[in-house]
Amino acid sequence: MSPFILAISTIAIILAYKLYQRLRFKLPPGPRRWPVVGNLYDIKPVRFRCYAEWARAYGPIISVWFGSTLNVIVSNTELAREVLKECDQQLADRHRTRSAAKFSRDGKDLIWADYGPHYVKVRKVCTLELFSPKRLEALRPIREDEVTAMVESIFLHCSNPENQGRSLVVRKYLGAVAFNNITRLAFGKRFVNHEDIMDEQGHEFKAIVANGLKLGASLAMAEHIPWLRWMFPLEEEAFAKHGARRDRLTRAIMEEHIVARQKSGDTKQHFVDALLTLQDKYDLSEDTIIGLLWDMITAGMDTTAISVEWAMAELIRNPRVQQKAQEELDLVIGSERVMSETDFSNLPYLLSVAKEALRLHPPTPLMLPHRANANVKIGGYDIPKGSNVHVNVWTIAHDPVVWKDPESFRPERFLEEDVDMKGHDFRLLPFGAGRRVCPGAQLGINLVTSMLGHLLHHFCWTPPEAMKVEEIDMLENPGLVAYMRTPLQAMATPRLPYHLYKRIAVDM
Ligand code: HEM
Repeated sequence: MSPFILAISTIAIILAYKLYQRLRFKLPPGPRRWPVVGNLYDIKPVRFRCYAEWARAYGPIISVWFGSTLNVIVSNTELAREVLKECDQQLADRHRTRSAAKFSRDGKDLIWADYGPHYVKVRKVCTLELFSPKRLEALRPIREDEVTAMVESIFLHCSNPENQGRSLVVRKYLGAVAFNNITRLAFGKRFVNHEDIMDEQGHEFKAIVANGLKLGASLAMAEHIPWLRWMFPLEEEAFAKHGARRDRLTRAIMEEHIVARQKSGDTKQHFVDALLTLQDKYDLSEDTIIGLLWDMITAGMDTTAISVEWAMAELIRNPRVQQKAQEELDLVIGSERVMSETDFSNLPYLLSVAKEALRLHPPTPLMLPHRANANVKIGGYDIPKGSNVHVNVWTIAHDPVVWKDPESFRPERFLEEDVDMKGHDFRLLPFGAGRRVCPGAQLGINLVTSMLGHLLHHFCWTPPEAMKVEEIDMLENPGLVAYMRTPLQAMATPRLPYHLYKRIAVDM
C-alpha cells in the first residue's frame, strides 16, 4: 500500500470512529463546535459567567469542547445532585493537565488523585487525622494569633498620621493572614517575623508557589489539542527543576521537625508532624506526604482570602448589614475583650454573613472538574467515560428558582431558613459535595468567620473618600479561583479601646 493511501485510510478510519461516537452518544447541547479547537476560542475569560450565559441559551446541561475533550457543565440543583450524589462514584476521577500530573507525581497526592484505593486511603488520613475536630481545635491558637496580627497591622496603618484620609488595600492584610496561617498549619513555620520581614525559606516558598502557577499556565493551549503538542514542547527541564526545588525545601522542613521531635520527645499538631508520625500506620510514601502538604497550600490559601475580600466588599456596599453584624458583636463580645472562635455559637448573624458571602461569591465557582471513569447518564444525556464534568455552583447560588431575590446580599435569609453549605443542600455548594467535598470546609469556615468577626468588631468600613459604594468593581478576575478583578480599597476606622488592637502571639 502506498503511503498516500495509508494516510487517507487512517484519516477515514479516525473520521468514521468520531462519527460513530457522535451518533452513539446523545450528548448535551451547546455552542457550535469548531474543527480542532472545539469551543476554546468562544469561551470568555471569566468562564463561569460565560457558561451561565450559555446555560440560558442551551439549557442547564451543556457540552463545551476544549479541543477534543468534552466538558459538561451543569447549572441547576437537580443536575448537581445527579453529578455529586447519584453518579458520585463514577464522576470522582480528576483530569490532570500535564503540569498537574507532574506536580502531583501522577496523582500521588489528594487533589489530583483518581478515585481508587490510594484516594480512599489519603482521604481517610485527612478526615480522621488532619482535619479532625480535635486537631482543628488544637490549632485554633495559630488562627487567633494570625487574625489578631491582622487587626494590629490594620490599626498601625490607620493610626499612622501619614495615612490620614488614605484608604488601604484590604487584600494585602487578608493575604498575609491566609499565608501565615496555612504555612504554620501545614509546615509549622511562620516565615515572617514580628517586623513583617520574611526569612529566606519564606522567600523560597513564595517563589515556588509563583513558579508553579507560571508553569501551570504556560501549557494551557497545547493541553487540549494533543496532536498539536509537538509545537509546544513540554518544558521538561523547567518542571524537573521546579519539582526538585519544592522537594528540597519540603525535605529540609521535614528534617527540622524530625530533629525537634527527637529533641523534645513530643509531637506537635502541625500537618507535617502528623503525616511523619502516621507514615507507617497509613503506608504513606514521601511523594504522598510532600504532595499532601502542598495540596493544603494550593487549596487552602487563596480560597479563604478571596471569600473575605468579597464579604468585605458586600459589607461596604450594604452598611445596614455591617451595622447589624457590629451590633451583634457589641452585644455578645462587648468592648472589653476580642472575639474568639468559641463565640461563634452566639453569633448567628455573623455566621450568616459569612454564608451569604460564600453563596454570592464562591471562590471556586466551578469547583474542581470531576472526570468520568465510566459512561454515565446525567439529565437524560450521555456523558462518555473520560469527559470532564463541572458544576457551576455560582449559577446555582444565583438561581431565582431556588433563591428569593438572589442578587441581594441578605444574610437574614439563613436565619429564616437554615441551609447547610457543606454538601448536604444542593442549592449551596461552595465546598462541593459527595466523595470529593472539600476536606478543609470547617477550617475554611472558621477562618473566614473569624477574620470577618475581627474586621467588623474592631473597625468601621467605608469606601475610599472619593468613591461611592456603587463604584466598587464587583466583577471577577479570570482563573480557577475568583479573585475580585479590582482589589478592594477601603477606609478602616477603629471602634474599640486601643489596648484591644494588640496581636495575641502564640509560639506553636
Ligand atoms: C473558603 C474556603 C474554601 C472553599 C470555598 C473551598 C472549596 C473547595 C472546593 C469547591 C473543592 C473541590 C470539591 C470537588 O472537587 O468536588 C475543594 C477541594 C479541596 N479543598 Fe477546599 N475550600 C476552602 C478551603 C480549604 C482549606 C482551608 C483547605 C486545607 C487547608 C482545603 C483543602 C482542600 C483539598 C485538599 C481539596 C481536594 C479534595 C479532593 O480532591 O478530594 N480547602 N475545596
